[in-house]
Amino acid sequence: MSKAVQFDHFGDVKVLHLVDVPMPQVSPGRVVVEVRAAGINPGEISIRTGAMEGIFPTHFPSGEGSDFSGVVVAVGPNVTDFKVADAVLGWTNERASHATHLSVPTSHLVRKPSKLSWEVAGSLYVAGLAAWASVEAIEPANGETVVVSGAAGGVGSFAVQLLLLQGARVLAIASARNHSWLKELGAVPVAYGEGLKDRLKALAPEGIDAWIDVFGKGYVELATSLGVDPARINTTIDFQGAKKVGAKTLGTQSVASAEVLGALADLVASGKIQVPIAATYPLDRVQDAFRQLEKRQTRGKIVLVN
Ligand SMILES: NC(=O)c1ccc[n+]([C@@H]2O[C@H](COP(=O)([O-])OP(=O)(O)OC[C@H]3O[C@@H](n4cnc5c(N)ncnc54)[C@H](OP(=O)(O)O)[C@@H]3O)[C@@H](O)[C@H]2O)c1
Repeated sequence: MSKAVQFDHFGDVKVLHLVDVPMPQVSPGRVVVEVRAAGINPGEISIRTGAMEGIFPTHFPSGEGSDFSGVVVAVGPNVTDFKVADAVLGWTNERASHATHLSVPTSHLVRKPSKLSWEVAGSLYVAGLAAWASVEAIEPANGETVVVSGAAGGVGSFAVQLLLLQGARVLAIASARNHSWLKELGAVPVAYGEGLKDRLKALAPEGIDAWIDVFGKGYVELATSLGVDPARINTTIDFQGAKKVGAKTLGTQSVASAEVLGALADLVASGKIQVPIAATYPLDRVQDAFRQLEKRQTRGKIVLVN
């Protein structure tokens, strides 16, 4: 048997349970991975509470989780690109990574660079590719001023660093406890709350060129009120706000490929991008892991480990 996180009705964290399930099987083009680490993401909260039911329908009992790193323990017929004992990272679209084992097509895998820890490798896909898509969407030019709202979280911390690598000046909206870290990365930290609009105007007297929003709750509206061209705003969460003004809503799925995931893994392995691991939890404490994520004060990633 293997173990997997499941829920059999919508609800709060208490519906999440670790259950014994049959060992996943290989099939043509697929391998079975023994999971070492699996990042958790806010989208999983929306799926579990039913808030995303219109977009991503759920069949009960449902597993969860997209991100993972681990070791290949069985390979299916016709698999030539991966073998038993390979260390890998990847993703599943089958809500299956919060588990001890999963079956996955090899097209969703890349080799784990040896310099990446299991925790970091298992946290890259959802947040990292959402940031990658956001940066591609706004096409930053060298020296441009770009705001990131939600700068210290899972997606924001990748977005800030990808923008800096492209030569942008990054105004990073976050609370005070994250300011020194954002400054060390090379960004200009900006506190959210009362007076934010004036602080941004003072920091960008010539105007703001582009905006990546990963927090929602009015930041798209703020961006347009500060004169940012909607074609240069991307939000990963405020779909209604984006629709109103014609802003972009590219996210993880827009760039989902082993090629992009591999490129991101290489940037992290080479030290060009840091991935702070805010906390790790064993699989049987999945409820606690989501309790922490739901506070929405994570720097970097929270990860389930086996
Ligand atoms: N469309 C997609 O493909 C896609 C993919 C991934 C994620 N998402 C969505 O993108 C959003 C971000 O995900 P995530 O993983 O980055 O979440 P997260 O890690 O939970 O984000 C936490 C961050 O939010 C910041 N924050 C809290 N209150 C804020 C405020 N009032 N203003 C600005 N920032 C604030 C916190 O900063 P402080 O600690 O400094 O307060 C913290 O760093 C989620 O809504 C998620 O569902 C979408």
